[in-house]
Amino acid sequence: MPYAHITGWGMAAPEGVMTNDDIAKIVDTNDQWIRERTGIRERRIAGASDFTSTLGVEASIKALKVANVRPTDIDLIICSTSTPEYMFPATACLIQDQLGATKAGAFDLLAACTGFIYALNMGAQAIRSGSVKTALIIGSETLSRFVNWKDRNTCILFGDGAGAFVLQASERPGGVLSAVMHSDGSGGDLLTLPAGGSHAPATESTVHEGLHCIRMDGKEVFRFATRVMASATLEALDAAGLKVEDIKWIVPHQANIRIIEAAARGLKLPMDRFIVNLDRYGNTSTASIPIAMVEAIEKGQIKEGEKLVMVGFGAGLTWGALAAEWTGPLPSKGHVRPEQYRRLGRVRSLVRRAIRFIEGLLYRREL
Ligand code: COA
Repeated sequence: MPYAHITGWGMAAPEGVMTNDDIAKIVDTNDQWIRERTGIRERRIAGASDFTSTLGVEASIKALKVANVRPTDIDLIICSTSTPEYMFPATACLIQDQLGATKAGAFDLLAACTGFIYALNMGAQAIRSGSVKTALIIGSETLSRFVNWKDRNTCILFGDGAGAFVLQASERPGGVLSAVMHSDGSGGDLLTLPAGGSHAPATESTVHEGLHCIRMDGKEVFRFATRVMASATLEALDAAGLKVEDIKWIVPHQANIRIIEAAARGLKLPMDRFIVNLDRYGNTSTASIPIAMVEAIEKGQIKEGEKLVMVGFGAGLTWGALAAEWTGPLPSKGHVRPEQYRRLGRVRSLVRRAIRFIEGLLYRREL
């Protein structure tokens, strides 16, 4: 059975930075309160030309470069997101088109902030089964478009960004070692975006009441998160036949420093074993774990041969953890330039639209 190795990684963050002081100009809050209660100092906010797909594409191109993999070699694209560009088509298909990943199947996965762990596990399982050789796993969010900028309980927390991993099959042991996924829909109302779906389609009154924005019971979510972070980590380790002492790093979902500190206490580990960058990005939901991973790899913190656990929680409720051995890119030949495929992909996309248009005219004439 092939192993699923993480062979490429990349991240993207919008240029716009919003500090706590900037937020204090909009709602009744202050930098000290936000830093002490959450650990967040600033977050990135999508500009007018940033979208969930464009951030995902930028992160993907970097990941494909690291892995030295052509977009045309990708078999499967999974985009984990809670902020898709449309109800449908899937954001994964927009990314497939922009990358020029001509032979890939593509779909979105919604497991909120746990999404990247779910998606990475699904991609790894597809590789382990032998049905897929190369998968692109993306976590991408433009949460700022769904934040209620009048609600100080939520608007201080979230930010925008994307991270992407390339997964490839290899006979060499390593890569994704185990994963656990959990859910408890009875807590669905604790963190929700109530309107805009089929339950409460957009109407004047849903918009007027702000039901198209994130709503959260912060205290309950906090309690839930501190309960599950350590237990999910231990479960994933157990499933991989590992002990806490065997792993070098924990990469937690970047929601609140106090939640990460509670996980550290639960696992009896010092905080320096946890990768933390939420001070600069806030909670980027499903993008937070890959963004933290990419920064840590690029800083030389996470090194080849080290074992780690990624662990997350979020709306749903969902939670999960994934154990992996970091092995780096597989040996490959030549020098792939994924951005060239992106340019060609744009031409290809235009040609396909033109062909569909012409076919449509001819078909109508035949009727
Ligand atoms: N600035 C200043 N004061 C604020 C504030 C803000 N942004 N938000 C709330 N407060 C006030 C409250 O009104 C309350 O005042 P009161 O005591 O006079 O009523 C006080 O601060 C304490 O509020 P509380 O809600 O108890 O704060 P908290 O310590 O629980 O922190 C969160 C609030 C949201 C930071 C915290 O609950 C949290 O992080 N929860 C988890 C959220 C999360 O991770 N969500 C994403 C999941 S993926």
